Amino acid sequence: MALPSKVRIVEVGPRDGLQNEKKPVATAVKVELIHRLAAAGLKSIEATAFVSPKWVPQMADAAEVFAAIEKLPDVSYPVLTPNMKGFEAALAAGAREVAVFGAASETFSQKNINCSIAESLERFRPIVEAAKAADIKVRGYVSCVLGCPYEGEITPLAVADVAQALIDMGCYEISLGDTVGAGTPERTKNMIEAVARRIPLKKIAGHFHDTYGMATANIYAALQMGIGIFDSSVAGLGGCPYASGALGNVATEDVVWLLSGLGIDSGINLDALVDTGVWISKKLKREPASRVSQAVLARRAMQAAVRG
Ligand code: HMG
Ligand code: MG
Repeated sequence: MALPSKVRIVEVGPRDGLQNEKKPVATAVKVELIHRLAAAGLKSIEATAFVSPKWVPQMADAAEVFAAIEKLPDVSYPVLTPNMKGFEAALAAGAREVAVFGAASETFSQKNINCSIAESLERFRPIVEAAKAADIKVRGYVSCVLGCPYEGEITPLAVADVAQALIDMGCYEISLGDTVGAGTPERTKNMIEAVARRIPLKKIAGHFHDTYGMATANIYAALQMGIGIFDSSVAGLGGCPYASGALGNVATEDVVWLLSGLGIDSGINLDALVDTGVWISKKLKREPASRVSQAVLARRAMQAAVRG
């Protein structure tokens, strides 16, 4: 299949990237990160999560973060909402797009949102209905699509079942999450094939964590299957509090580089993105995990040395 001519990147750094940080990140830093990402050309920036602060303390300032964002008219700022309480808070904050998050693993569902898969779908249904009435878009996530931190292997059929249930309910798009980051390209293709038998390809997004360093290979495999939407996180920030050992999302810098090498324009300014990754990494007292970022920084240093 021909590669898609256009790819949409959903930047999840401010949410997936920061949710696992042990030390509180200042609200102002989160907001500035979102502003910098928008200035670098990201058009979809997952801003925060209206979840229980007991479960994910780092997202306790969701309403404050959302209120402080200077929202650009051509940028969407989706937020996670696990239940009606979260949805109502998101609505009150002015969110125009939300995401519900289910899983293809029973145990992960229990550990992450404290209910079974079937219960989660029943919990999401009123959110989708209320969102429809308020003209709010709902994205659906399925976690553990290429393995579960508790159960190990997950069948592509189990993933397809949950993805279809979310689409049937009214989600406009399904993001398939390799939560543990253990996927490989062939397994990625098999899983996508199973999901694409049930829901249209154009409604499928890939969400790859880079624990084993396979995320860009998996994205390339997904591109070859015709997938044109990918989630990623600046500087490769991230991890899931309920998937111990899982490292960050694939770095947005790495995805932009991959796409530009394939002649696919992502609309993102790589230099501005690298600067944003360096900035947030400094705030978190670490180096950017992105290999592309490291290469760009090394190239800049060499060019500066040559110029004297
Ligand atoms: P629960 O304990 O079963 O909830 O948690 P509950 O309804 O029994 O309520 C218990 C308390 O939480 C009550 O407060 C509620 O008011 C409060 P109390 O009376 O004890 O003071 N509460 C809330 N507070 C704020 N916002 C809310 C909310 N709901 C209840 N929305 C619940 C169930 C779903 C709330 C909880 O399990 C939760 O918040 N889980 C979120 C976990 C999470 O955010 N995980 C990370 C995101 S998923 C992810 O990273 C994967 C993804 O990236 C894709 C991939 O990589 O695979 C998306
Ligand atoms: Mg994730």
